[in-house]
Amino acid sequence: VRNMFHPTSFESYSTDLVGLSAFLQEPFNAEPHRSALVSSYITPVDFFYKRNHGPIPKVDDISRYSVSISGLVNKHIQLSMDDIRMLPKYNVTATLQCAGNKRTAMSKVRKVRGVGWDVSALGNATWGGAKLSDVLELVGIHKLSSVTSLGGKHVEFVSVDRCKEEKGGPYKASIPLKQATDPDADVLLAYEMNGETINRDHGYPLRVVVPGVIGARSVKWLDSINIIKEECQGFFMQKDYKMFPPTVDWDNINWSTRRPQMDFPVQSAICTLEDVDVIKEGKARIAGYAVSGGGRGIERVDISVDGGKTWVEAHRYQKSNVPYVSDGAQSDKWAWVLFEATLDIPPNAEIVAKAVDSAANIQPEKVEDIWNLRGILNTSWHRIKIQNTSCVSRSKM
Ligand code: MTE
Repeated sequence: VRNMFHPTSFESYSTDLVGLSAFLQEPFNAEPHRSALVSSYITPVDFFYKRNHGPIPKVDDISRYSVSISGLVNKHIQLSMDDIRMLPKYNVTATLQCAGNKRTAMSKVRKVRGVGWDVSALGNATWGGAKLSDVLELVGIHKLSSVTSLGGKHVEFVSVDRCKEEKGGPYKASIPLKQATDPDADVLLAYEMNGETINRDHGYPLRVVVPGVIGARSVKWLDSINIIKEECQGFFMQKDYKMFPPTVDWDNINWSTRRPQMDFPVQSAICTLEDVDVIKEGKARIAGYAVSGGGRGIERVDISVDGGKTWVEAHRYQKSNVPYVSDGAQSDKWAWVLFEATLDIPPNAEIVAKAVDSAANIQPEKVEDIWNLRGILNTSWHRIKIQNTSCVSRSKM
């Protein structure tokens, strides 16, 4: 179990660390080994990646814990955990993915800044909690509102933890009010993860889950909710987690030219094989995950064993005994889709996966074309170069 996670290093790019000695320790970031990731549709909590920008806070006196709701709204309230538990409870199965997933592969083209993730900075959990749309009704904001009578258009989530990028202030993010008040957007204030009380690493006692959107907006250890006019001005909305073109580097960046990243694009990865693997000639099982943002399903996963010259379609699945149909009524629209194909592997094969979502978006072929200085959204085709097929070691047969 100890080796299940390999903690990854944290690279600071903040220049203003004066007087912040309390924040000099590296935050805890970890991902499971890729081979363990797709052994189940629901990711066990222990295998779920962890991404933190500061020390993990401890909220131990639950009787004193409350979430305040204020800002551009006529009624300001404080909600205890009992108040939140009294609202209808929903279970939503949703994949959270760090925007930096697969960053290491992008760094091979040209070094990018950020945690060096392999392909496992994501997980699929069943989150239990109250819908944000119900919570906002308690302060008089109706379902499907896009603006409050006082001009509020965004919902900001402010956390308990402190991080150096915010100069010792709390981690925060926002989503549009329109999304927050839409019951079908399934935005949750979650207190359960996979049927258990959410643990400290993942945001105890309460976290936001914004399905279909990069993980950075799913604020953990929620402290307060503000209804605001413009989107949150915090570091992680304005000076991070934005997608820039390959021509922009640290010497010519203008953060204000780009929008904060919200939806994540279509993504996939092969998890049963690695570049270092040496496999016996013959058939091998190629399996992994595919996921898209915005509630879009996975229409197809294509696999190639010859570097992308020819393709076969992989079998897709979510739950056992329920055939997966992208955007089907029985499918979990916010969740990943697992795929598998058993194929003949030629000598020195280059195995490739690419997914197509229900809007016919296809992963870009080359990482070079989507290189960006922060190394986010590496959704390029996932390629595995098998070293040699003449002898057997670490066989996946
Ligand atoms: N919320 C707080 N309060 N502090 C954080 O550092 N990290 C964000 C998000 N919410 C973060 C946070 C990022 S970048 C990601 S990818 C997800 O939480 C990770 O969630 P997890 O650690 O539960 O997997």
